[in-house]
Amino acid sequence: MTENDKRSASEDAVAALIQGPELDKIRAATPGLDGQLFFLSCGASLMPQPVIAGMYDYIDLEARSGGYAAQSARASQLEGVYASVARLINAAPDEIALVENATIAWQLAFHSFRFAPGDVVITAEAEYGANYVTLLQAQQKQGIEIRVCPSDSRGQIDLAALERLIDDRVRLISLTWAPTNGGLNNPAAAVGRIARAYGVPYLLDACQTVGQMPVDVAAIGCDFLAATSRKFLRGPRGAGFLYVSRAMLARCEPPFIDHIGARWVGRDRYSLRDDARRYESWESNMAARLGMGIAVDYALRLGPERIWQRCTILAQRLRSNLATVPGLRVRDLGDNPSAIVSFSSDHLEPSDIVARAAANQIVISTSSPESTRLDADRRNLPMLVRAAPHYFNTEQEVDALSEFLLSVLHGARRQFAPFPKPEGKRP
Ligand SMILES: Cc1ncc(COP(=O)(O)O)c(C=O)c1O
Repeated sequence: MTENDKRSASEDAVAALIQGPELDKIRAATPGLDGQLFFLSCGASLMPQPVIAGMYDYIDLEARSGGYAAQSARASQLEGVYASVARLINAAPDEIALVENATIAWQLAFHSFRFAPGDVVITAEAEYGANYVTLLQAQQKQGIEIRVCPSDSRGQIDLAALERLIDDRVRLISLTWAPTNGGLNNPAAAVGRIARAYGVPYLLDACQTVGQMPVDVAAIGCDFLAATSRKFLRGPRGAGFLYVSRAMLARCEPPFIDHIGARWVGRDRYSLRDDARRYESWESNMAARLGMGIAVDYALRLGPERIWQRCTILAQRLRSNLATVPGLRVRDLGDNPSAIVSFSSDHLEPSDIVARAAANQIVISTSSPESTRLDADRRNLPMLVRAAPHYFNTEQEVDALSEFLLSVLHGARRQFAPFPKPEGKRP
């Protein structure tokens, strides 16, 4: 490669960044950016205009024609949601079930296994609270054993320890890819290689990764993947999805079914659907499903690699800004961190920081130790503050957040100028 080739390759890389007029367009199509600095895509993000418009349109149709007629009229669009979600994670449409949220998706997958006393489930130290209390319930009710794989020196799941934990009693590996309480980005694909090598089913919680990072279930080698719509994917609340590999469809039955997922074919017989829709309930919020599908298409148009690239740039900028704020400790773990930036302060309570931020039109949040108790106990973590930039944020907004934090923590020395309220409405 000549020097000139190298230069043009790096220029291409720069051209591929989400920035300039494209970023302006994205921001103009995000009404929630009006008058506030928004850093809560790890909680519930801001829907873009096409999602909002698509849902309004659908609800309007429901209002005018009734729910069933609206569903028939939009049947092909609703059907298209499966193909969109499948494309986003490199699966097949028949491996996708549309459900209410990531927790339901995870529970449906977990309870597909008929655990017997002594069966082992391996998990890791960043496992999400909802998943872990379910493991505890299964320990109490079904007598499973929970093995928690320790973390390595970087805070990620320790792959060598994982291999040592596997024996013939292990029925499932459950991993939270990116936890709710900070920037850890667990090596999901490396865990998948181990799960495959030992023939252990693998359930992956991708709630914080879908919409933020590229996700490829074939490359990862997971058997189930649970995700939600409202976070980095920028879809509506009350929607999510479950990926079930064809291999698992051949082996697993949902913990509960209805007569659409399983046809009632004879007085004493039912017959499960062949595809992942056996995991669905027939009744569902169709507008939310549709909104999630539009959000997926929106992310696909931008490109998951480019989204991840920009999330990384902004999160790195925030972390390095915060590293210079005295008395503030960034708490993120691991290599290649996610865009969830977590920190604590020696001076102020997290809830106080979040409240003062809100008074300045800055949206951030806290994360309780209870959402990731194993990690919180191990690191003796207090309540943390979370700020998660997404691709629609600007470098200036990240710097304004950093300035604000410097100002509240060292108010006597610096004064933060509040973010101005907009005068008019966005076009
Ligand atoms: C890592 C992780 N898993 C699962 C969930 C649960 O997602 P949902 O609220 O959509 O059920 C969350 C929610 O914050 C999460 O952060």
